[in-house]
Amino acid sequence: MSGTSESKAKVSGKVGWKSPSNIALVKYWGKHGRQYPSNPSVSFTLSNAFTETTVEYVHDENRKDRPSWRFTFEGKEKPAFEKKILAYLNGIADVYPLIAQLDLTIDSANTFPHSSGIASSASAMSALALCLEDIAASVEDRTMDYQIASHLARLGSGSASRSVYGPLVIWGESGDVSSASQDHAIPYDEGIDPIFETFHDDILIISAQEKAVSSRAGHALMDGNPYAQSRFDQAHRHLSEILAAMKKGDLQTFGTIVEKEALTLHALMMASDPPYMLMEPATLSAIRMIQNFRQAKGIPVYFTLDAGPNIHLLYPAEVSVAVAGLVEDLRTFCAEGVVINDKVGSGPSKLSV
Ligand code: PMV
Repeated sequence: MSGTSESKAKVSGKVGWKSPSNIALVKYWGKHGRQYPSNPSVSFTLSNAFTETTVEYVHDENRKDRPSWRFTFEGKEKPAFEKKILAYLNGIADVYPLIAQLDLTIDSANTFPHSSGIASSASAMSALALCLEDIAASVEDRTMDYQIASHLARLGSGSASRSVYGPLVIWGESGDVSSASQDHAIPYDEGIDPIFETFHDDILIISAQEKAVSSRAGHALMDGNPYAQSRFDQAHRHLSEILAAMKKGDLQTFGTIVEKEALTLHALMMASDPPYMLMEPATLSAIRMIQNFRQAKGIPVYFTLDAGPNIHLLYPAEVSVAVAGLVEDLRTFCAEGVVINDKVGSGPSKLSV
């Protein structure tokens, strides 16, 4: 009898998830309260830039003491990352009460260099959130709920909420998308032209240095930005316009909005107090080369930027041969010539561990 209750009270296991990064087409920039976005955003989920996270857990229903949480990166201790992860786990107890009963041994690895400036927080936090929701589903004997995983991911990094789904994902309330939510992201495929599922994203690593101003600080600076409200209004309009263009397969309007979004993001940084710039001279040279190429050849190839100097080159698969020469020319602007060839992807997958 006591054996039965003991085996019920204490359960152990291991789960693993592979989760990709994403690139925002309409950007989330500015937040309030508990990681609520000041405007809606939409992104392509990627395929090749991903994080793989495994979590060994022991669930003890009768636990009285503090649980033990350990984090390693590629099997090695990484105090800076561990500190962030432990702070995250400490901060989610109200939405994930199970955390107080779980010993966790977490290990994470990325396919891309974490210092490359590409959004590792989106893949890392979504992979961890999926593991946590998978554990909860197993302990509570239910199926996994991706909305819960997206919500948990959002609390770690706003953009991570979108990585839980693919290929096109919306996060944040919008008058145009009734099911969109501030709490979690949603996949969106209502009538989107299939050409967008073929999109490539070649990530030009202009600089692999750590950013001078973090995204967290950048979001906070939107609070005093004199252009904040008109920017939030613009993002609502852009979401509506880009979805309409994507339904029509209108690449030109799509590209115009995507580029406007990238430049607006960086203009907001320059208009912050204190102002700052994350683009490098090579970012501008590369942008000019992309625009000249598009104008001369009439090929639909567009750029976008994260909160950093690196460029995401977006184009449909049907023009990839025509764009190959441009990518080689752009390589000269990249740190050690590094370009990460990525594509739009369908979202995370569970690992067999
Ligand atoms: O998720 P965060 O807090 O790292 O912010 C991401 C901000 C941008 O990448 C610039 C835009 C976005 O929507 O992903």
